[in-house]
Amino acid sequence: MSELKNDTFLKALMRQPTEYTPVWMMRQAGRYLPEYRESRKTAGSFLQLCKSPDFATEVTIQPLDRYPLLDASILFSDILTVPDAMGLGLYFEEGEGPKFERTLREEAEIQKLEVPDMAKLQYVFDAVAQIRKTLDGRVPLIGFTGSPWTLATYMVEGKGGTDFLTIKKIAYARPDLLHHILETTAQTVIQYLNAQIAAGAQAVMIFDSWGGALSHDAYIEFSLNYMKKIVAGLIKDNDGRKVPSVVFTKGGALWLEAQAEIGADALGLDWTVDIGQARKRVGDKVALQGNLDPAILLSTPDAIDKQVENVLRSYGHGHGHVFNLGHGITQWTPPENAAAMLEAVRKHSKQYHQ
Ligand code: CP3
Repeated sequence: MSELKNDTFLKALMRQPTEYTPVWMMRQAGRYLPEYRESRKTAGSFLQLCKSPDFATEVTIQPLDRYPLLDASILFSDILTVPDAMGLGLYFEEGEGPKFERTLREEAEIQKLEVPDMAKLQYVFDAVAQIRKTLDGRVPLIGFTGSPWTLATYMVEGKGGTDFLTIKKIAYARPDLLHHILETTAQTVIQYLNAQIAAGAQAVMIFDSWGGALSHDAYIEFSLNYMKKIVAGLIKDNDGRKVPSVVFTKGGALWLEAQAEIGADALGLDWTVDIGQARKRVGDKVALQGNLDPAILLSTPDAIDKQVENVLRSYGHGHGHVFNLGHGITQWTPPENAAAMLEAVRKHSKQYHQ
């Protein structure tokens, strides 16, 4: 493998000194980019982009070609490839979010759930290997997964963004059944992330997009404990380098102290928390990644510059900050506004690293 030319992102995740604050954007390859929309049209659908290593490589690289200031790339795929491989039948309907043909609600169905053969996800590992080759050491490649809780919400509810009443009913009436889903998914995810690392992923991120829907005790029992298990099961070094991990619970800032104890190298933050206060709460246990409200990118370059400065000032002097949005970039973002954010991060962050 070729030498990594920019390791600023990996260093920041390990809280090592860097000259500036590295930056990437969640969903940086996506519909706000005209070149992405063009590739999706050629491929025929979003899932075709994910399932073809050639297309996945093409769209992963698009934001890097457009924005030389990005310090990391992220595998183009989706968290829902895992429940798809577990036999639930993922599909997308135009203009709507992801859905599943089957759901896990009956005890007999739930008991049948098994760790799938990783060969079903070979297209993901092939994409990782091809992206690494194409990157040729430009920036590191992030692999990722959904958290067991977040994946379980899709498996039980059949779609995202619901009120989660079906899965919560199972959680309270039959916690043993939910634990079976979560345990099976956690074991699957450990194999899935380790295969991504073996194929070339240089850092990994766990997206717990729906952890924030849980009560305090339920978050620890059904979400955080399984992410802890995953982190413990990960390959820690590959190719002579440490492979850092990031855990991101959307709406999870109430539980930062607990998250900082699970062994991950960094925590992702959404925009609801002040990053300087978050830093005080976690101390020097973990790095922090975040946390500009993605809606700010709908405003103006001047407004974006000020808001970026606020986040950097709040984090303050020292290392261990990876700049990012607090959630995925929206499809209505003007591409030049994303450039304005990246330029502002580079311009204002150097002073905090002297
Ligand atoms: O960040 C990146 O550039 C890497 C690719 C990536 C996608 N999805 C591509 C995608 C990543 C890391 C994800 C993670 C993901 N997928 C999450 C966790 C992060 C989060 O947003 O909370 C979740 C919950 C999903 C499930 C999912 N996939 C939803 C809810 C949707 C529909 C919402 C939407 O934005 O349309 C998707 C589709 C999806 N995943 C798209 C992309 C680029 C849009 C598909 C299209 O082209 O129409």
